[in-house]
Amino acid sequence: MRIFITGATGFAGSHLVENLVSAGHEIFSLVHPETSHQPLLQHDRVNLIPGNLLDQASLETAVAQTKPDRVYHLAGQAYPAVSWQKPGLTLAVNSVGTANLLQAVVKYGRPRTLIVTSAEIYGEIKPEMLPITEETKPAPNHPYGISKWAAGLLVPLYWQRYGLPVVEARPFNHIGPRQSLGFVVPDFASQLAGMRVGQRLNQMKVGNLDAMRDFTDVRDVVRAYELLAEQGESGEAYLICSGKPVKIEAILQKLIQLVNVEIDVQQDPERMRPSDTPCLYGSYAKLEAQTGWRPQIDLDQSLADILADWVRRL
Ligand code: GDD
Repeated sequence: MRIFITGATGFAGSHLVENLVSAGHEIFSLVHPETSHQPLLQHDRVNLIPGNLLDQASLETAVAQTKPDRVYHLAGQAYPAVSWQKPGLTLAVNSVGTANLLQAVVKYGRPRTLIVTSAEIYGEIKPEMLPITEETKPAPNHPYGISKWAAGLLVPLYWQRYGLPVVEARPFNHIGPRQSLGFVVPDFASQLAGMRVGQRLNQMKVGNLDAMRDFTDVRDVVRAYELLAEQGESGEAYLICSGKPVKIEAILQKLIQLVNVEIDVQQDPERMRPSDTPCLYGSYAKLEAQTGWRPQIDLDQSLADILADWVRRL
């Protein structure tokens, strides 16, 4: 199949491209020259298409030229914390960028399309409302959450208005090898790997350790994206999660155990946020019922792989 991807050079995108190439597909990757993070897989079936989500004409040309059978939309401003410094950019890229892409896809061929949003649309959820399901009412508490909520609202709209077979994936926190700094697990693992290879003193900076999050390995997450792109019901949203809340402090302790050294842990005010969702965890029942997906890689395995990846990088 011919597959058009945005965000292929991002964290999840790089894993998705590997899977799709292994399955024999031809990839057309929309690449924004200034914001691409990972080197894109070099392969004769991976084609680069320069473009910008904020330039609708460039998107229409890209989609018209590549004539995709499937579209995966992963690109965006992915940091909730950054959205406080760049609210306009976050809303533009994540919400307007999604609208521009959907418009281009509707105009040229209406292929099956997957839009990736986020569990951060839910904001502060009362404990009695947990676990989150697709029916839980969103109440975002930062510009990032609002930007992803708006992007997701376009999905049923484009299905109802234009018959575009489009599905929304709503992932919770995902972790794994290659994730950039700025997210909690790479922020912790990179510091610990630095100590292990002797580049740093045994002093560690951390942010809010009381928050609880639902972590899934990125390799399981992209498998869910592939299943949803094929089998998801048009106009519907699906949560992707492990179903288990984990305290950030527990993540820190597990990583410290893996390096097995004495550490002086210090809270860094720079890493505390103006608002931080206290507890997020979800249910993947709808995704499992539709596709048979279940997470396969457990948290301990993910953390060991991430630490090994950082030791190798350093
Ligand atoms: N980044 C970071 N660095 N977070 C820290 C640190 C630190 O040193 N110490 C504690 N934390 C806490 C944060 O305050 C937050 O409560 C939690 O760890 C997770 O932070 P992140 O890994 O930055 O992720 P996030 O939950 O804000 O957002 C992620 O998950 C969303 C889905 O639930 C991102 O991947 C989003 O793109 C995604 O939509």
